[in-house]
Amino acid sequence: MKGLLSLTSCLGIFHTLVAAATIPSYFERSPSTPRKLSVAQVQRELGSRLSKSTIIFGPEDARYEDATSRWNDFAKPKFQIVIEPGQESDVASIVKYCNEKSIDFLAINKGHGYPSSLGSFNGVQINLAQFRTINIQPNGKSAWFGGGVFDGQANRYLWDQGYVTTTGSCDCVGMMGPGLGGGHGRHEGPHGMISDNILQLNVVLADGTAVRVNNTSHSDLLWAMKGAGHNFGIVTSFEMKVYPRGPDTWHYHNYVWRGDQLEAVFTALNNFHGNGSTPVNMTTNFGNMLLDTTVSDKEPVLWWTFAYRGSAAEAEKLLAPFNAIEAVRDEQGDVPFPQVAAAQQTDENSAICQHNKVRITATAGLQVYNLTAERLIFEGFKKRIASDPTLAAGAVVLHEGYSTAGTDAQNPNDSAYPFRDDHHLMLVQIIIPPNNKTIEQEAWKWAKEVREQWNQGQPTRPVNAYVNYANGFESVEEKYGHEAWRLKKLRDLKAKYDPFNRFRFYNPIVGKKTAGPV
Ligand SMILES: Cc1cc2nc3c(=O)[nH]c(=O)nc-3n(C[C@H](O)[C@H](O)[C@H](O)COP(=O)(O)OP(=O)(O)OC[C@H]3O[C@@H](n4cnc5c(N)ncnc54)[C@H](O)[C@@H]3O)c2cc1C
Ligand SMILES: *[C@@H]1O[C@H](CO)[C@@H](O)[C@H](O)[C@H]1NC(C)=O
Ligand SMILES: *[C@@H]1O[C@H](CO)[C@@H](O)[C@H](O)[C@H]1NC(C)=O
Ligand SMILES: *[C@@H]1O[C@H](CO)[C@@H](O)[C@H](O)[C@H]1NC(C)=O
Ligand SMILES: *[C@@H]1O[C@H](CO)[C@@H](O)[C@H](O)[C@H]1NC(C)=O
Ligand SMILES: *[C@@H]1O[C@H](CO)[C@@H](O)[C@H](O)[C@H]1NC(C)=O
Ligand SMILES: *[C@@H]1O[C@H](CO)[C@@H](O)[C@H](O)[C@H]1NC(C)=O
Ligand SMILES: *[C@@H]1O[C@H](CO)[C@@H](O)[C@H](O)[C@H]1NC(C)=O
Repeated sequence: MKGLLSLTSCLGIFHTLVAAATIPSYFERSPSTPRKLSVAQVQRELGSRLSKSTIIFGPEDARYEDATSRWNDFAKPKFQIVIEPGQESDVASIVKYCNEKSIDFLAINKGHGYPSSLGSFNGVQINLAQFRTINIQPNGKSAWFGGGVFDGQANRYLWDQGYVTTTGSCDCVGMMGPGLGGGHGRHEGPHGMISDNILQLNVVLADGTAVRVNNTSHSDLLWAMKGAGHNFGIVTSFEMKVYPRGPDTWHYHNYVWRGDQLEAVFTALNNFHGNGSTPVNMTTNFGNMLLDTTVSDKEPVLWWTFAYRGSAAEAEKLLAPFNAIEAVRDEQGDVPFPQVAAAQQTDENSAICQHNKVRITATAGLQVYNLTAERLIFEGFKKRIASDPTLAAGAVVLHEGYSTAGTDAQNPNDSAYPFRDDHHLMLVQIIIPPNNKTIEQEAWKWAKEVREQWNQGQPTRPVNAYVNYANGFESVEEKYGHEAWRLKKLRDLKAKYDPFNRFRFYNPIVGKKTAGPV
């Protein structure tokens, strides 16, 4: 029994937290080193309280590796035990048990979360893999989804039934992971973000109470779950709007340009996006600076992919400025929506979806592109190809440009998501070999440099870091918004719904800030 106590906390700390008028600094006050949990003991004590289809296992089990594999091996959470609840009601029982025993718990779906705060987790994984049902409602206007549904699954299933909804763009990623932080994706121009389409949620709160969250029940929490949701509860299922699927095919067009076209490309992009007035059906473009040695081993290429919701003829009219820029190569085609992910290299087989790599990342939110900044970033990449080929080979500097009509149509005050003025999401991602501090330091320096170049390219705007792209070293304001009322509201709700800060492992709103790596 004793082995289960004092994982990272004990009841004594809880009292201190309640008494403290300020933000709890949970980690600081934790006096104990985590001890080893016994799988057999948890199975014995908890197993009888859970449904028959629940699975409980530890590191010795063959399923453990799969259940705990991560997209990013930097700051991996430590899972002593994995529990896969079979029924939604089991989640409440697991949370209550963990609270009784002072064991930390963390909900996991597809394993792509990567903020540094996850690295401090040590405890029980609540794996949502058995919650993957989708039920379209009889009126055809919404569907209920299990808390473990993921993007590719939802897109394929709904399309076959004649519908679409808002998901993230990578097939491998969960829906609630992105959705609780906003949720950007190919349908945000037409329909808004994932969070904008949430009607209601079944949530297990920090104390193990299961509640319905909608606009008449815990509506304050609904506001918070749409942008800062990872801090507030475990979503066992959710109801979202669905829409008629629209045109039978989408048009994609991918280009590879050399660096000497950089100014032409970014000028065309700024014109095309018109500072937040992108044609709504020109839903998505992703652009990477990356090394492609078939083109050059001295500098990166600009790899760009566009996805249009509709015909080639309509799309190519809008893409004319890009067709006028001489490309090394390009390819285009027309496919049903669920196949757009593969065409844009964001399906389960694509490089971006692969797990078990150490990735150093940094993000920025932009309104328009600054050509000077992009040139500096390009030259910085070129410099690394010469000086540090290992680093350069694993680097991708991603630029995202969604159409934004649907997200702009929402009143920004109606949800916790704070950054509707950002039209572009940036992410630098550097894959490095494991266990090499020297190269890790260099990667952090580079990632930080790129982030600064993006932000210095918009000197009059605040520094923003979309919470789902954040590496975790940013400030709370940078992740949750610079408006004081927003942060106050979030902290008040946190005190109401999670006073002991049980949900503090994914870019926590309250708690000690982690020191940056560089
Ligand atoms: C390859 C890749 C592509 C991405 N593409 C997009 C994109 O197109 N749009 C976008 O907005 N973001 C995108 N992201 C960021 C993404 O939103 C986050 O990484 C997200 O946390 C991943 O969710 P997951 O279920 O895959 O990961 P997990 O690690 O399983 O979950 C991340 C965290 O979310 C919380 N969580 C997940 N499910 C639940 C639930 N049901 N209830 C309560 N909490 C839950 C937990 O705190 C968990 O730690 C991408 C990330 C990667 C790595
Ligand atoms: C919100 O949930 C409550 C409790 O389940 C339910 O009675 C009510 O109808 C729901 N409201 C909406 C708008 O769905
Ligand atoms: C709440 O739900 C009702 C009924 O669906 C809807 O008319 C209203 O706009 C919703 N309010 C909010 C704030 O979402
Ligand atoms: C873009 O639009 C915003 C208003 O939405 C405005 O404040 C900003 O100055 C514009 N930027 C440029 C470069 O036109
Ligand atoms: C976008 O596509 C939809 C679905 O095909 C269509 O109804 C709509 O008219 C298009 N909008 C524009 C501005 O082209
Ligand atoms: C949002 O709320 C803030 C603070 O209450 C207020 O100043 C602002 O005008 C509101 N904006 C909108 C669009 O309602
Ligand atoms: C770390 O990486 C650097 C750069 O690639 C390399 O020179 C060095 O040998 C590596 N060190 C170790 C311990 O592997
Ligand atoms: C573009 O970036 C440069 C370099 O950071 C900066 O000096 C300049 O002010 C930026 N331009 C605009 C319009 O913000």
